[in-house]
Amino acid sequence: MFSFLHSKKSLQQREFFHGYTDYHCHLLYGVDDGSESWGDTEAMLKTYEELGITKVWLTPHVMEDYPNTTAQLQQRFGELCAAYRGPIVLHLAAEYMICPVLTERIRNNDLLTIGEKGMHVLVETSYFDAPLHMDQTLDLLRSSGYIPIMAHPERSEYMTTKMMEDMRSRGIKFQLDLFSICGAYSPTSRMRAEKYLKAGYYDLVGTDTHSNRFLQFFAKAGVPNKLVNLLPEQPERL
Ligand SMILES: [Fe+2]
Repeated sequence: MFSFLHSKKSLQQREFFHGYTDYHCHLLYGVDDGSESWGDTEAMLKTYEELGITKVWLTPHVMEDYPNTTAQLQQRFGELCAAYRGPIVLHLAAEYMICPVLTERIRNNDLLTIGEKGMHVLVETSYFDAPLHMDQTLDLLRSSGYIPIMAHPERSEYMTTKMMEDMRSRGIKFQLDLFSICGAYSPTSRMRAEKYLKAGYYDLVGTDTHSNRFLQFFAKAGVPNKLVNLLPEQPERL
């Protein structure tokens, strides 16, 4: 009984976020389905501070539904940085849907990369079907000198172990949505996350925070030790 209680401590209770870098969130306000206003963002950053998070990569969606240009995102990011007075180090990147918008941005050398080295590009797909030209787009990123990081593969119904192994052999990295292991999505996503964690497929994790309520709720959700122990070390510099 005692060990059972301990096995369900939350990430917040485990002080998991102390010194943590978040490599995936939608805190840039008014540009996608995440934060709607500076007030939302300010509240989320306050929660990040309380959790002990020290560095955040803002990764707004870029896709046909949100065709944010690099210049628009950089301008909003400048406004956010001018308004924020706290200690968290903020960086701007993006989360690119694999679709014609991304292909065009790659061809125009117009990408907001993630990580200090400027080599990585965070990408996502629909949860249901692999997009047309997925392999070609990932290969175009590779041949253009970038390393794609596929966001939350455990949430994609079409994804298989074989596909992940094939992608890894082509130099593609994978990012776990941290809250998949806290039950934020389907039971299948949680089971897949466990399977892929055991296989060692993930290179890093991110919260994919879209709202303060979501962040506060799942930071306090119980997570079994066996899953927390499988999480990869966050890279110090990406
Ligand atoms: Fe996201």
